[in-house]
Amino acid sequence: MKGIILSGGHGSRLLPLTRVTSKQLLPVYDKPMIMYPLRALLNAGIKDILIIVAPDHAGDYLKLLGSGKEFGARFAYEVQDKPEGLAQAFIIGEHFIENDSVCMILGDNIFEDDITESLNSFSGGAKIFVKEVPKEDRTRLGIVEFGKDNKVISIEEKPQIPKSPFAQTGIYIYDSQVVEAAKAQKPSARGELEITDLNNWYLAKDQLQAEILKGEWIDAGTFESLFRAAELARKKATFRGL
Ligand code: TTP
Repeated sequence: MKGIILSGGHGSRLLPLTRVTSKQLLPVYDKPMIMYPLRALLNAGIKDILIIVAPDHAGDYLKLLGSGKEFGARFAYEVQDKPEGLAQAFIIGEHFIENDSVCMILGDNIFEDDITESLNSFSGGAKIFVKEVPKEDRTRLGIVEFGKDNKVISIEEKPQIPKSPFAQTGIYIYDSQVVEAAKAQKPSARGELEITDLNNWYLAKDQLQAEILKGEWIDAGTFESLFRAAELARKKATFRGL
């Protein structure tokens, strides 16, 4: 299993902070934001990690993370020239992925869960991780409906009438079909290759599973959530180190 950390994007909701640096390099309590998703992959035993960054601050990532040797891992870097969507990561990462499975984590998502078991039990298709969210957040997230066997029934982006309390979070596991699936996508109305469209490609093949996260999940992309992320990191001893 290989890993991808997607760490580009606009970061427009954190302006003016993101005028001078990348969102995922901003501090979350005692370290840059990207160290949290990196830690999640390393703790799960992933040693080959591709870090996808935007052109502006690419050098700062290299300075922070280097070759990976310090972490007992190998890091590769790719530049996403324009933020053309989450699913583009698998086109950019085609040669890195080769014929392996891959776990992608978003560079601004902070998770408490240990995903080792989920990676070990992955047997093909795709798996998304979901978290129950409060009612008021459901209409602005990707909402996932799934059955008793955890097979996904539907994913709806920002639904007016949400069919479930579970939102799609920023960790995804795919088998090697993912490159072909990403290439099959057309840009959405906002000009992006959407991760939900990619997941729906697997859903159409009846190969999409959901797994419920037990611990906390924070998408640190707004001022409010960035602040909560720092509070969580300060409180939880499990986030120390690295
Ligand atoms: P978002 O937080 O949805 O978008 P954003 O980072 O562009 O921020 P904003 O909405 O405030 O303008 O992106 C989720 C994650 O994916 C985040 O870590 C950035 C990353 N990303 C990319 O690396 N490339 C992309 O093309 C997009 C859209 C996001």
